[in-house]
Amino acid sequence: MSSSRLPSNAESTPSAGSAHWPAISAKSWTEGITALDDSRLTALAVSGAGRIAIEILLEDQRLIRALDLSPVLDCIRAYPRDEESEAVPTDVYSFHADRAPVETDTYLCTYHGAASEGLRNDEAQRRVDIPETRAKLLKAFGGEDDEDFLEYLTENSYDLHYAPVPPARPFSFGVGSLWRIAVDYPGSPVPPCIHRAPETLPGEPPRLLLIS
Ligand SMILES: [Fe+2]
Repeated sequence: MSSSRLPSNAESTPSAGSAHWPAISAKSWTEGITALDDSRLTALAVSGAGRIAIEILLEDQRLIRALDLSPVLDCIRAYPRDEESEAVPTDVYSFHADRAPVETDTYLCTYHGAASEGLRNDEAQRRVDIPETRAKLLKAFGGEDDEDFLEYLTENSYDLHYAPVPPARPFSFGVGSLWRIAVDYPGSPVPPCIHRAPETLPGEPPRLLLIS
């Protein structure tokens, strides 16, 4: 189901039974990212509501696998931060597009915790096109603004990261909606969907995220 407020390169579908997700948050995961494969999910000691939630999580993945996709369910306390790229941090907390060598889409569903966020393409600017940022990248590259530099930007994924253009209003993907978003691949008929992971602050519950 798509909504009129969504960009044309993204659509979302409500996942069944999202009201059950808080039932499985009692388990305290301490790692940055914990993969919850089917056997790990099934083995969790949970309440009756938690068991219903797990069945829905398993069924959602079965349906997605039936489309020849490979969903992964992660419990996320924090993603790694890019501490090295001063001009353009390339971690998932930065608004970015996904890129692939072949035609594909990204699927995302936040079942619990802070939801993924999106930025409309007409409210975004590539960071590499901001003169001050480009000058910093050129300095780090140590050459001219030529084909080799463009290759350097691509190899390091700097060209995939975006800054909001005021008065941009990023939007939430919401909790319990499965999103299919456009990826940057050769020949794609639409611009890629710009998105990012939300900040996960200490003391807040972990996120439960399906990604494919
Ligand atoms: Fe992404």
